[in-house]
Amino acid sequence: MLQYKNLEEKIKACQRCHLRETCLNVVPGEGNVNAEIMFIGEGPGENEDKQGRPFVGAAGKFLDELIAIIGKKREEVFIANILKCRPPGNRDPLPEEVEACWPWLVEQIKTIKPKLIVLLGRHAMERFLPNQKISKIRGQALRREVPEIGKQVFYVMYHPAAALYQGSLREVLISDFKKIPKVLEAIEKEEDIPVADKVEEKVAVEENKQTTLF
Ligand code: URA
Repeated sequence: MLQYKNLEEKIKACQRCHLRETCLNVVPGEGNVNAEIMFIGEGPGENEDKQGRPFVGAAGKFLDELIAIIGKKREEVFIANILKCRPPGNRDPLPEEVEACWPWLVEQIKTIKPKLIVLLGRHAMERFLPNQKISKIRGQALRREVPEIGKQVFYVMYHPAAALYQGSLREVLISDFKKIPKVLEAIEKEEDIPVADKVEEKVAVEENKQTTLF
């Protein structure tokens, strides 16, 4: 706990990129520092920036509902973001901002050591599982060795905010969420979990097939 608190203090004092000049509060993340599941979103929005807490706006309410579906409380998991500071006007994170913030996320993951990392949305997916299509890999557990972290199991989902704009995604998110306990069980039983690189190859083959067909 002390180790995590020290890390949190360092994150709050960060000046590695210019986002700290425009945001109100740094949003390091929150939850159980011994959590089995860590959720990673994109970055703080307006509400998160005001409160210094992750996922407290409309998308956060939906995330809380989803967490309750698997019988957990927000306090039992850990919730963080790729960016700790809000980009002005909620624009997409810039690559240099993601890279400046990356060492903090690495430290958080190494301290919390979650069994499963749930990546919420395309931006979170891209940092850990590059060159993938969210529509193809969502809802499946994937293993990948991330150089700074080591072997890790990931589970990609659409971002909860996407369901607020596109109602049909709500059911997709709910059904993907319901599979999380089985994924945790598979990790505990050390069952075979596909390697992300192999999925990358499969996506590439399928895409090649498509270009030759049309
Ligand atoms: N969206 C995110 O990606 N993260 C938050 O903390 C809130 C909204």
